[in-house]
Amino acid sequence: MALLEVKELTKNFGGLMANDHIDLQVNEGEIVGLIGPNGAGKTTLFNCIAGFYPVSGGKVFFKGEDITGLLSNEVCLKGIARTFQIVRVFKDLPVLDNIMVGAFNRTHSTARARKKALEVLEFCGLMGKKNLLAGGLTIANKKRLEVAKAFATEPALLMLDEAMAGLNQTETAEAVELVKKIRKSGVTVLLVEHVMEVVMPISNRVVVLDYGRKIAEDTPERVIHNEEVIKAYLGDKYHASRRAN
Ligand SMILES: Nc1ncnc2c1ncn2[C@@H]1O[C@H](COP(=O)(O)OP(=O)(O)O)[C@@H](O)[C@H]1O
Ligand SMILES: [Mg+2]
Repeated sequence: MALLEVKELTKNFGGLMANDHIDLQVNEGEIVGLIGPNGAGKTTLFNCIAGFYPVSGGKVFFKGEDITGLLSNEVCLKGIARTFQIVRVFKDLPVLDNIMVGAFNRTHSTARARKKALEVLEFCGLMGKKNLLAGGLTIANKKRLEVAKAFATEPALLMLDEAMAGLNQTETAEAVELVKKIRKSGVTVLLVEHVMEVVMPISNRVVVLDYGRKIAEDTPERVIHNEEVIKAYLGDKYHASRRAN
């Protein structure tokens, strides 16, 4: 049984089909990359899975249970956490308190939330920033905090929406290490990312969206040679940079 199973998920905004009958499976322990051009429907799919948007059609199953139509906090309790493409840290709160907000998903005790948040701070390499206001962090650390907040909810599935966008090479490499560490800790990862050099090496499978439709789903090696994917998205993006190297 897949950990996450999305069946014919459809979401339209008026006449615009942002997600058009999308089927997607994520198995426990995998890192699945979700790629596609801007506007392909990746964030919308996250929003539908996570209960931020009501779906227009189709179903979402998690651990075999139909979770379609649950509210976002209910989905989070089931074990799905997500980050936002535009980071949503509480900028006037210290880093520790931001992570405690996530930790409160599993406890009402402030002491326990604090203990969990401290573990997550350490795990995510943010201990040195514990008392800083989140608003003052660099982009890289804001993105890291966004991941930490989601990780603190103790998910079985973590969905990362461009958690590495805008980072330099070193920061990106550090973020990749964090994603690998998260997977090693037993959390399954569904990851939207534009940098192919990031997505391809860490993904077990890659799913490609274009104009709301799934146009491919395969191993990274096969996806980069898929004609339709190259035409719709990869184009020179991957192959040219490879040639240049
Ligand atoms: N809340 C919304 N209202 C209307 N249109 C939306 C909304 N969210 C996304 N869209 C549209 O849905 C399409 C898919 O967007 P999105 O899921 O953000 O794509 P991606 O994350 O792949 O770049 C785009 O055409 C976008 O303009
Ligand atoms: Mg997006």
